[in-house]
Amino acid sequence: MPRHDPHSYADASQPVADFLVWRAQVDFAERTLSCEAILRFAEAVSAGPLDLDTRDLFILSVTDDHDQRLAYDLAPAEPILGARLRIHLTGGAREVRITYRTSPDATALQWLAAAQTSGGRQPFLYTQCQPIHARSIIPLQDTPRTRLRFEAELEVPAELTPLLAAESLGQEQRGERTVARFRMPQPISPYLFAFAVGDLIARDLSPRSRVWAEPEMIDAAAYEFADTERLLATGEQLFGPYDWERYDILVLPPAFPYGGMENPRLTFLTPSIIAGDRSLVSVVAHELAHSWTGNLVSNANAEHFWLNEGGATYAERRIVEAEWGPDIAALDWALGRRELTDAMQRLASAERWPITRLRTELQGIDPDEAYTVVPYEKGALLLRAIEEAVGRPAFDAFLRIYLNTFRFGVLTTEEFVTFLDRQLPADALSRVSISAWLYEPGLPASAPSPRSARLEAITSLSGQPPTDEQAQSWTAVEWQLYLESIPEPAPFELLAELDRRFGLMQSRNSDVLEKWLVLAMRSAYAPALPRVEDVLEHVGRMKYLRALYAALADYDLAHAERLFQRNGANYHPIARQVVRNELKLAADRT
Ligand code: BES
Ligand code: ZN
Repeated sequence: MPRHDPHSYADASQPVADFLVWRAQVDFAERTLSCEAILRFAEAVSAGPLDLDTRDLFILSVTDDHDQRLAYDLAPAEPILGARLRIHLTGGAREVRITYRTSPDATALQWLAAAQTSGGRQPFLYTQCQPIHARSIIPLQDTPRTRLRFEAELEVPAELTPLLAAESLGQEQRGERTVARFRMPQPISPYLFAFAVGDLIARDLSPRSRVWAEPEMIDAAAYEFADTERLLATGEQLFGPYDWERYDILVLPPAFPYGGMENPRLTFLTPSIIAGDRSLVSVVAHELAHSWTGNLVSNANAEHFWLNEGGATYAERRIVEAEWGPDIAALDWALGRRELTDAMQRLASAERWPITRLRTELQGIDPDEAYTVVPYEKGALLLRAIEEAVGRPAFDAFLRIYLNTFRFGVLTTEEFVTFLDRQLPADALSRVSISAWLYEPGLPASAPSPRSARLEAITSLSGQPPTDEQAQSWTAVEWQLYLESIPEPAPFELLAELDRRFGLMQSRNSDVLEKWLVLAMRSAYAPALPRVEDVLEHVGRMKYLRALYAALADYDLAHAERLFQRNGANYHPIARQVVRNELKLAADRT
């Protein structure tokens, strides 16, 4: 059975379903979805097996388009992949219909109680399918190689708003329930399937863009993301036409474990980037950039994840540069470089070091466990190194051809290199030592090094406090670079002075606050503890939880464990797992 994705049972020799009809009824009391999924093949198939990915699904029936029952077997669940559903197709079938229920533990779903929302009135439900969670809500060939169009119907309690990352076809009332219909005319990889249900309202940002949020958040969200149309236009100028018609944004409750998720037509964002001063909109630039690199051209599987994230990080910085200038972009590159260096240090054990390659080998490895900043920053640096080797005009021309050639397709690292080699001047790839970048762990010594006068002004402080005048001119990223430059542990007096003069404990920029609190914990600065407790109670973004729990655990392990006991149930299951791992690592360190 030829499989081309280590995280999917999809078999390359079997028919591929390229259209999905999905109907789901949402039951908040039971925390389940009752569903029908129709998988349609491009042409009539011959008799034989069809292997689908599932996780924790309760299968009720499997029939074909003539209502004939089809034999199937559900294999025992495997920890990472889930359970293979093998359907025995009879010849001539055009589709299979599966009725099923999801489990309350479906890994793609987070069910939030009303108390976990801003309004506190209504429950909330949302999906996170990347990397391999779509199979916990839909039985399908859950590999990015599958691209499918779909139609969907979502039935929810009438007091809630259903949103799905697709084109909306309107909704109707059926008694106490609302039924909303959607369709996705562009073929997407399954990990991009997404929906949310909650007390949501919208505000238009431009004719092709609006923001959705809970009513208490909508004003702040509309202000924060007011530049979205400009970013979109800049993206189009750099990378070519925007192929998804609309670009909407959904602000989720704080439990959302990521900064953002590039669901097609409807980016999902954490509320923690609503800083009040638009200082975190580079996250929007990043998710928007995925409209080209990631969603239009996707990694063939998680082993080539750097193509998605390195590509989006590079594209994000290009958008930032076009919008706010090269100095601001240079600061983002510098911060990214700093985070990459830290990550490389953390990953420097024999067991973890191989995942610092760009092209990874993930057979038997859960992609959620392999998630690091490496594919983002090392990947973006590689693209920048190639840009520097061939010059920007040539690289920009390459990007256009690349996006056009693989539009609505997928590729592997190896296919990417072959294509690069064909498009770029003969010696370009050897000049950047591309094999070292892709196949060796760590960072090549030749990696581009961000340079800027603003960066040098920060390093030359050697951790000493800035003058008031200097501090006033600093962006949030400069603050982060400064905080990162302070040698640890920092003296109590320095932290007290910084907090007194610059109010860091009250920073509304969550990235600055995280860096400040991590520095404080690593410096055993007890006055920061109440703020750390507060953040761990109210924020679900995995990146912050990971950093804060790790720093707190090294300072006071028992306290970190107590806080996790108190708050863990509110975290997204993936975030909970990440924190559990951090606490275990910290316990091993003591
Ligand atoms: N696609 C990712 C989020 C993701 C990756 C979810 C892998 C599940 C598995 C998204 O585009 C992303 O990279 N988000 C970043 C923000 C960004 C500005 C670097 C995040 O969540 O921190
Ligand atoms: Zn991304």
